[in-house]
Amino acid sequence: MTSVGIDAVELWTGNLKLDLAETFAPEKGDDPEKYTKGLGLRASSFPDSYEDIVTMGANAAKRLMDRKGLEPDDIGRIDVATESSFDNSKPISTYIAGCLEQVYEGDFHHANKGERKFACIAGTQSIDDAYNWIRAGRNRGRKAIVVATDTALYERGDAGEATQGAGAVALLIDEDPDLVELTMEQGYGSADETDFLKPNQQFPSVDGKRSVQVYLARMREALEDYESVAGDVHLEDFAYAPFHTPFPGMVRKAAALAYRHVTRDTEHEEALAEEIGRQPRRESFDDDAEYEEAVREYMSALKDTDQYREWYDATVDPTLSISRDVGNWYTASVHVARIAALKYAYENDRDVTGESLLVASYGSGAQAEIHGETVQDGWHEEIAELNVDEQVAARYDLSWAEYEEVHDRHNHDMDKELEEFTTPNEEFVFDGWGRMGERKYTYVE
Ligand code: CAA
Repeated sequence: MTSVGIDAVELWTGNLKLDLAETFAPEKGDDPEKYTKGLGLRASSFPDSYEDIVTMGANAAKRLMDRKGLEPDDIGRIDVATESSFDNSKPISTYIAGCLEQVYEGDFHHANKGERKFACIAGTQSIDDAYNWIRAGRNRGRKAIVVATDTALYERGDAGEATQGAGAVALLIDEDPDLVELTMEQGYGSADETDFLKPNQQFPSVDGKRSVQVYLARMREALEDYESVAGDVHLEDFAYAPFHTPFPGMVRKAAALAYRHVTRDTEHEEALAEEIGRQPRRESFDDDAEYEEAVREYMSALKDTDQYREWYDATVDPTLSISRDVGNWYTASVHVARIAALKYAYENDRDVTGESLLVASYGSGAQAEIHGETVQDGWHEEIAELNVDEQVAARYDLSWAEYEEVHDRHNHDMDKELEEFTTPNEEFVFDGWGRMGERKYTYVE
């Protein structure tokens, strides 16, 4: 059977940064550790005045095409996943293709383009679409580009304001991939939920606390569904587990629940029994409240054990290293987590060729998906080519007053002009409005 998966990835961060401990917390009158420890975030990325979902997506895609020596003729499909679209008809992929056509010979007229929407899970769904297109043999030897791009802005003063972010990930989907092969098994947890939505509005209506519970509930369903096709998951099966990361504290909660689930009735549970007891079983309690209290106590004790910490530090913590400095990139977030994990392996001389990743995606509204991926021979070379640290370090550090202006600049209901803070260099920039209200772009050398 043909091996299909992610051949290469590139990432593009918004060129501005808001420091949560130094700038956000003092303004809110909060202890900085609420953000750095509680949410697990140091900073958020923001788009400069000339950036948006198109420029970030096109810049990531251009880096990908340049690095892989690709021309438009090599690409048969461009899918964009976003929940920050500014157009209800014309897909963002057409704007991105238009940008790329300014700098390459040839065009993308032959390429199927679309836009996927299901909150933050749409990037993973777009990879799925590309995978199915290639596996069905309809790609005529061509590859697919998936771009996950978002400007994750919340209403000023919303509890989610601390978890904002902006950036894009571009992924090349192809046969015989260099980075990871996608496995066949997938698990879903999907339900009609109203935890986070944008009914024809730019900024989300969010029930933050409930959204956390919905994330956990759908992830749990997806894990059980995954196990129903792939068999029971064991701790030893996976080198890393990249999760959708709205903020690292969310993943900390999900990881602990996943650990409890996969270690139940295993030697790992037994090994912990002397220290914290066995996991509570519903049948041993008279009612739900007692059982739930016992589970809470078990979870709290579990998180302090060396056994759990060692697993978490090796398998989950490495996936969060980029997210900590850039915030939530919605559709791109789980793909940032995958990059972070492989970057960690690369930097720590860990050879993960042939090892597996358990990838857990999530979109509000709500749906979780879990699947496995196998790391391929070329992963080391691919990850070596990324310049994530340079991009993150080069961002302009906003003051509070500047942040307020940047937020207004990107508010679709405000018509705010704002001088740029950074100088664009070899990148696409937003260049004003066309006669039909379309956004226009140009490439700056
Ligand atoms: N030191 C250390 N920790 C501290 C602290 C301090 N001084 N002060 C607070 N904390 C801890 C809290 O205990 C809490 O941790 P636990 O949940 O583990 O107890 C954490 O910091 C956050 O504190 P609060 O819960 O008080 O924070 P909040 O209510 O202001 O905001 C939130 C939290 C509701 C999740 C908010 O960030 C939010 O609405 N975010 C947007 C929605 C979101 O991201 N939801 C996630 C699931 S939905 C999803 O994944 C889709 C998506 O991308 C949006």
